[in-house]
Amino acid sequence: MKIGIIGSGNMGGSLGKLWAKAGHQVIFSHSRDLQKLKHLATTAGTNARAGSPGEAIAQSDAVLLALNPAVIEEVLGTTALDQESQLAGKVVISCMSDLKPDFTGQTIGIATDLKISIAETVQQMAPAAHVFEAFNLTFAEIAASESRQFGLDKPSIFYCGDHPGSRATVETLIEDCGYQPIDAGGLIVSRSLETLASVWVQFAIASQKFGSSGSRVVIV
Ligand SMILES: NC(=O)c1ccc[n+]([C@@H]2O[C@H](COP(=O)([O-])OP(=O)(O)OC[C@H]3O[C@@H](n4cnc5c(N)ncnc54)[C@H](OP(=O)(O)O)[C@@H]3O)[C@@H](O)[C@H]2O)c1
Repeated sequence: MKIGIIGSGNMGGSLGKLWAKAGHQVIFSHSRDLQKLKHLATTAGTNARAGSPGEAIAQSDAVLLALNPAVIEEVLGTTALDQESQLAGKVVISCMSDLKPDFTGQTIGIATDLKISIAETVQQMAPAAHVFEAFNLTFAEIAASESRQFGLDKPSIFYCGDHPGSRATVETLIEDCGYQPIDAGGLIVSRSLETLASVWVQFAIASQKFGSSGSRVVIV
């Protein structure tokens, strides 16, 4: 499969490398430093290359959005109005959660005025895309590890979306990264998954398993 990565930082870089290793053709995009993107593509191997977000969208069957949510509109909207149509019929996976910079909470959820999730916002911006939420309840450190195997168990990835015909594709992309996919329902569930990401990070901080070397956190 051809996969476009929009946002090639901790999450996009790690998942893109795993997909390239699994045999997918990957385009890394959306960095302020093109050399960084090229270096990432080189380390990911011959199945990967660097490109612009426009190329990553136009030349892919599936797209991962691993951005700061504040710039979604800039990337999907005003910079290239035809990108919405380029996304038509394609699987678009959002792993985004709008956590505050100090991880003390998030800027969406029950306590705010916003009614919809980031993934639903993406679906509104690209109505013909097959938008899913996935990978937001893992850590980039786990995706970047040599293996996602915890003894006999694999970490679970909850995913949700409204397009039945694309669920198998999303499950394959999750499995190709070494995780176990769990269908959590329609895209409306992304409101809960994105909120849960805040709890997830708080749990990791409270249990001192966040950022300490050798420690890993897993839901199985
Ligand atoms: N980190 C995790 O463990 C984790 C886990 C699950 C979900 N998520 C979610 O995944 C999303 C991405 O997180 P991340 O940790 O991968 O972030 P990150 O490492 O900061 O990556 C953000 C990407 O956006 C690019 N970018 C381009 N223009 C930018 C700008 N003006 N300002 C900031 N970044 C810009 C960055 O490129 P350059 O820096 O090269 O310019 C980078 O490729 C977030 O919504 C987060 O909630 C993260």
